[in-house]
Amino acid sequence: MTYVVLEGPDGCGKSSQAVGLAAWLRDQGHSVVHVREPGSTPVGESLRQLLLARATGDLRPITEALLFSAARAELVANVVAPALRRGEVVVAERCYLSTIVYQSIAQTPGLDLDWVLDLTRRVHGAHLPDAIFVLDVAADVALARRRARDHDRIEARGDGYHERVRAAFVQVVALEARAQRIDAARSFDAVQADLRERVRGLLR
Ligand SMILES: Nc1ncnc2c1ncn2[C@@H]1O[C@H](COP(=O)(O)OP(=O)(O)OP(=O)(O)O)[C@@H](O)[C@H]1O
Ligand SMILES: [Mg+2]
Repeated sequence: MTYVVLEGPDGCGKSSQAVGLAAWLRDQGHSVVHVREPGSTPVGESLRQLLLARATGDLRPITEALLFSAARAELVANVVAPALRRGEVVVAERCYLSTIVYQSIAQTPGLDLDWVLDLTRRVHGAHLPDAIFVLDVAADVALARRRARDHDRIEARGDGYHERVRAAFVQVVALEARAQRIDAARSFDAVQADLRERVRGLLR
């Protein structure tokens, strides 16, 4: 029925905000499927382990784009589409916007944007998000938020990389009609209230 996505750089607050949003939606009487990308299918979780493991080492952007897209194809066909058909609400952490940001815009040289968009169309078919909320926060604030844990393969990239990722997310919000920026520098509760207000307007 409704497919909403939380996007943004590592440590911006996607997982914690998604948990709050899913709980609120359930309180409102909705059936909610909460998923994360890559993951939330057997193949997707295996690909997630491979993609985040530091032991994996460097991968070519095209390899990353194809592996993330493979996980996404399984998720959309096997989890998202059936949930939408049952009239449920899907709350997803990340979507194709991450592939545009990480493998195209923030990479030098990045993948051709039109090629990534074509791949995305083939992966999603008719099942595209109703809204993508990009949790925007300065790279150093996101770093501080995730400081408590060991950095995965992508988080371990340098500060300049994370600045480029933040800038790429801001850029992509302007390109994508489905995407909206949310100021995630505010308190957890303020961000959550903003999200609930925006999601309320989408529920059918
Ligand atoms: N608005 C906020 N203010 C302060 N701390 C926050 C806020 N939102 C989330 N946090 C905290 O920041 C940390 C990172 O949040 P979270 O794990 O939800 O981010 P994430 O976007 O899912 O990260 P990743 O991309 O690495 O999965 C958590 O400890 C969380 O409690
Ligand atoms: Mg998370």
